[in-house]
Amino acid sequence: MKIGVTKEIKNNESRVGLTPAGVFELVKNKHTVYVQTSAGEGSGFFDSHYRDAGAILLETMHQVYALSEMIVKVKEPIAEEYPLIKENQIIFTYFHFASSKELTDAMIASKSICIAYETVEDEDGTLPLLTPMSEVAGRMAIQQGAKYLEKPIKGRGILLGGVPGVPPGKVLILGAGVVGIQAAKMAAGLGAHVTILDINMKRLRYVNDVMPSHVVTELSTEYTIRKHIKTHDLIVGGVLIPGAKAPKLITRDMLKDMNPGTVLVDVAVDQGGCFETTKATTHEDPTYIIDDVVHYCVANMPGAVPYTSTLALTNVTLPYVLKIANLGWEKACELNADLRKGLNIVKGEIVYEGIRK
Ligand SMILES: NC(=O)c1ccc[n+]([C@@H]2O[C@H](COP(=O)([O-])OP(=O)(O)OC[C@H]3O[C@@H](n4cnc5c(N)ncnc54)[C@H](O)[C@@H]3O)[C@@H](O)[C@H]2O)c1
Repeated sequence: MKIGVTKEIKNNESRVGLTPAGVFELVKNKHTVYVQTSAGEGSGFFDSHYRDAGAILLETMHQVYALSEMIVKVKEPIAEEYPLIKENQIIFTYFHFASSKELTDAMIASKSICIAYETVEDEDGTLPLLTPMSEVAGRMAIQQGAKYLEKPIKGRGILLGGVPGVPPGKVLILGAGVVGIQAAKMAAGLGAHVTILDINMKRLRYVNDVMPSHVVTELSTEYTIRKHIKTHDLIVGGVLIPGAKAPKLITRDMLKDMNPGTVLVDVAVDQGGCFETTKATTHEDPTYIIDDVVHYCVANMPGAVPYTSTLALTNVTLPYVLKIANLGWEKACELNADLRKGLNIVKGEIVYEGIRK
C-alpha cells in the first residue's frame, strides 16, 4: 500500500502520525511510505531519519495526498486539507466528528474511509488509542502543578516533596482513571502526600492495591471534596463520565475555602472541565487566577511534549496501521472488531452511531 504522512498544520500541533521506526516496519512489509519534508521536526524526527528508514520525502502535503492510498495523521484534517482528500482514500487519525459538523460534512463529501483513533475500542470497552494521551496528561498535571506552586508564578510557594524536617505538599486527585492514576504515581514519586477520590470502588480498590501507603483513597462525595480542598495544595481534575460533560465537582464558592496560591489543574477541560471556574487555556498562556487560586486548564496538554506524545501515540497506532496496510481496510476491519469500531464514515456514509445523533 502507498502510505502518506503529512506535517500537521493545525495550530500548535507538533506531533506526527508515524515515526521513522514506523516507516521502517511498513517498508519492511513491502509498503511505500511518503513523508512530507519536515513533518516530524516538531517531534524531533528529521528528514534524514525518515529517509534512512526507507521513506520517500515529498515537498508538499498536496503531493503526499495525491500519491497515497492511506494518510496517517494525528489531528483531524482542517479546511485546507479537505479538497486534497480523495474518494476511497483511507484517513486514519483523531477526528472527534461529534464536535464539528463542518468536518463531518466535508468527509462525507470526500467519499473517503475515515477511521477515527478515538473510537477504536477493545473488548473490555477501553479506548486503546486515547489511553496514551491520558497517560501523558496525567503525568504532566503534576509536573505543571508543581511548577505553578512556586511563588514567582503566584503559587503557594511549596515544594511538593518537602525536605527533611519540612512536611511534603498535599495533592488531591479527582478521578482514579487513567489520568488520575498516572498523576498519583508522579505525585507519590515526588514524595507528596496524595489523596485520590473516585465514585467507583473498583478503581479505588485497585489504586489501594498498587500504590504506596502515602497515596490514600476515599470515596468522592461533595462532603469529602469540601473537606480536602481546605488542606491540599495542588488539586487535579481527571474525572470522566463517558459521552457526557464533566460534573462540576468544585464550584466557585469553594475557592474561598482554599489556601491562597492553591493550584487547580483541570485535565478534564476538554469535556467542559470539572471545576465551575474552568475556562480552556493554551500553552502560550496556560494559567489564570481567580480568588487567589491558580487555574491551569490547557485543553491539549500532550501538545507540549510532542516527542513523548508522538512515541506514546504511534506505539499504539502502528499495529493498526500495519494491519490496514497488509490486509486492506475491509479485511482488517472484518478480522478485528476493535478496529471496526474505528470506522466512522465510509464512502459518504456515516457508519458510527455516535456521529448520527
Ligand atoms: N487536557 C488534556 O490535554 C487531556 C488529555 C487527555 C485526557 N483528557 C481528559 O481527561 C479526562 C479523564 O480521562 P481518563 O482517560 O482518565 O478517563 P477514565 O475514564 O480513565 O477515568 C475517569 C474516572 O473518573 C471517575 N469519576 C466519574 N465521576 C466522578 C466523580 N464525581 N468523582 C470522582 N471520580 C469520578 C470515573 O469513575 C473514572 O474512574 C477526560 O475528560 C479526558 O478527555 C484531557
